[in-house]
Amino acid sequence: MRISVIGSGYVGIVTGACLAKLGNKVTLIDVDEQKVETINNGNSPIYEEGLDEILRQVHIEGGSDYQRIMDSELVFICVGTVSNRDGAISLDHVEQATKQIAEVLKRKEDYCVICVKSTVTPGATEEIVVPTLEKSGKRAGTDFGVCMSPEFLSEGKAVHDFMNPARVIIGEYDKRSGDVLLNLYKNFNSPIVRTNLRTAEMIKLAANAFLATKLSFINEIGNICKKLDIDVYEVAEAMGLDERIGNKFLNAGIGFGGSCLPKDLKALVAKSRQLGYEPRILEAVLNVNDKQALKLVGLLKKHITLQSATVGILGLAFKPGTDDIRESGAMKIVQTLLQEGAKVKAYDPVAVENFRKLFPQVEYVTKEAVLDSDAVLIVTEWPEFNKLDFTRKLVIDGRRILEAKKARIYEGVCW
Ligand code: UGA
Repeated sequence: MRISVIGSGYVGIVTGACLAKLGNKVTLIDVDEQKVETINNGNSPIYEEGLDEILRQVHIEGGSDYQRIMDSELVFICVGTVSNRDGAISLDHVEQATKQIAEVLKRKEDYCVICVKSTVTPGATEEIVVPTLEKSGKRAGTDFGVCMSPEFLSEGKAVHDFMNPARVIIGEYDKRSGDVLLNLYKNFNSPIVRTNLRTAEMIKLAANAFLATKLSFINEIGNICKKLDIDVYEVAEAMGLDERIGNKFLNAGIGFGGSCLPKDLKALVAKSRQLGYEPRILEAVLNVNDKQALKLVGLLKKHITLQSATVGILGLAFKPGTDDIRESGAMKIVQTLLQEGAKVKAYDPVAVENFRKLFPQVEYVTKEAVLDSDAVLIVTEWPEFNKLDFTRKLVIDGRRILEAKKARIYEGVCW
């Protein structure tokens, strides 16, 4: 199939690369010319396992000109969405991209489907994307089709998740639109759910909200366990044996970060409030999460005075397998340590460059040199941390690194 992908952020680049790998002719459109050049040279603009390899194998043509979609049968909108102050998703980028697509639609003769992949609030595709496209003078359902098909990629294993989806959601304006996407996914061995546009949008937000709820739940149980001298990991393991609960996403720790769970949860809270409903469970999930990372600093203060102490940080990314530091626990922790007068040394295998841009005052060193501090905080569970010798250290662990339990003084954040 001839496919255009608008936006070469996380979802766009993975979608484009994987669809090209599956034999489709993919064009990528992005206003960021530097990113486009990187991709055209066969390199990935982000760190993601397996992505560089695919980009070297396939040919994706990138550019900034929307005329490229003239030849496409399917156009994916994968532009980033940012949050407004109230947490609601700003649709500015989606609207901008849609306007540009509409310009090309004016002169495009053959039928094509425009599919939103960016995470948007329920109603956005119907209320903003469809009317904007129709400003071209063409009619949805007749001259062009519209779909909303959310992605469920986890950073660090996004290529795997794209190729092996737990489910494919096809939100469709009409059957003809959905049939085009169905054809694209026909060889995927996964359940396909066909539904309307706003239900597809809600499925994405509800799925992320549920995952976030599971995490704040187990962290709260962990916070209670800590006071009772109970190991929450033992509790979670036994809970997870019940299939209705499941054993995934029950690793207690410093809370959830990243660009998706916090943003999507806030977006659902904001939408709900706009509708006059106070979403108490979702608000509590956010509240528990907001406090969780800084518990590490609280525990540390029981052992040392921060003023003039050197604190070592192991892990800066919001989780292992990525260089993404958005909403990472490390950001909150480092900011507080610096504010309270501590000196900070840090190590991460891939996220240092991103972190340095925000925290140039931190000393970036090897993981062994991090251990040479007054105390060590474990913030991301990179497997390599299990090979370090913690025996003579004071360690506050936010991620349950087993080797760290051998430390001279060891405290888990909620175990
Ligand atoms: C999340 C969802 O897992 C994906 O399904 C979804 O497609 C994606 O958002 C998105 O909306 O694009 P991601 O943000 O990559 O994926 O990260 P997760 O693996 O969900 O981890 C989120 C946070 O929860 C991380 O900070 C991680 O350390 C934390 N976490 C996760 C735990 O603390 N414990 C766990 O057991 C699992």
